Amino acid sequence: MKIGNKIRVFAPATVANVACGFDVLGFAIDKPGDELIMEITKQKGVEIADIEGDEGMLPRDPKKNSATVAIQDYLDFIKADFGCRIWLKKMMPSGSGLGSSAASAVAGVYAINMLCNEKLTKEEMLPFLLDAEKAACDAAIADNVAAGLFGGFILVRSYEPLDILQIPVPEELWCAVIHPDVVVLTKDAREILPKEIPLAHSLRQSANVGGMMVGLLRGDYDLIGRSLVDYIAEPYRSKLIPGFYEMKQAAKDAGALGGSISGSGPSVFALCHGKEIAHNVGDAMKKIMDEMKIGSEVYVSKVNSHGPKVLPMAD
Ligand code: HSE
Repeated sequence: MKIGNKIRVFAPATVANVACGFDVLGFAIDKPGDELIMEITKQKGVEIADIEGDEGMLPRDPKKNSATVAIQDYLDFIKADFGCRIWLKKMMPSGSGLGSSAASAVAGVYAINMLCNEKLTKEEMLPFLLDAEKAACDAAIADNVAAGLFGGFILVRSYEPLDILQIPVPEELWCAVIHPDVVVLTKDAREILPKEIPLAHSLRQSANVGGMMVGLLRGDYDLIGRSLVDYIAEPYRSKLIPGFYEMKQAAKDAGALGGSISGSGPSVFALCHGKEIAHNVGDAMKKIMDEMKIGSEVYVSKVNSHGPKVLPMAD
């Protein structure tokens, strides 16, 4: 097997849940995302040479960092007689609800797979990413990692066995995401959810997932908007996000189809018909945060259709 020596990759942020699809829907966005440089070493194991941009928050222990957990799983699976060293550049904060741990893990497995001449398929690599999510968030959830790895809009139809479906996205579907400068850990955001939900809520939730699928397939923007309702997580998690309902209303008033919490929060996303509306929606949500004197960052992009990519070694 011919193995290249060094590579630089990018893996995108992701919006999980998408209101109605708790733990089963997700999509990738163009920015933010993580960059990772990987170099093959003769020595076995995965070494973290440096992590930039995390303010020292992420674990340096390769058994605990999402990127290195996934890479080590990969190396074990292929019974590698070599290892690697990584430099991780975090370009989004942890605890943002934008799939930060997932982006690092996706970047890691994508990089090692490219250096191993694409030895494994994306489907084969997905279990490594679930292990990484388990290490990072104490929950092996596929919504962020599958969206990040495959790109596009995904439905996790089944966890056992894993069955990931990619859903076509209408051409003019844009997303505005705001990341308020507040940390919400996925673990904490999962703990506040009720263990059981009323039957009526379950029915409405699954009906909205169906509505979302039909809306995406038909390019019916109004139906997509009507389906952006969450009975499972939003009612509980919204209290962790200052100004959440005000941002949601401001997004609607600025023309958004609808929106909700991105993943486990605190980021808030809104889907929009067209680029201009998406920019207006991002501005409207930011105005709420500015009025509340909470720092925030807005990202506007289409759904990212390709997932991770190789970057030139230096730019
Ligand atoms: N679906 C997860 C949650 C997001 O909302 O807790 C992290 O994968």
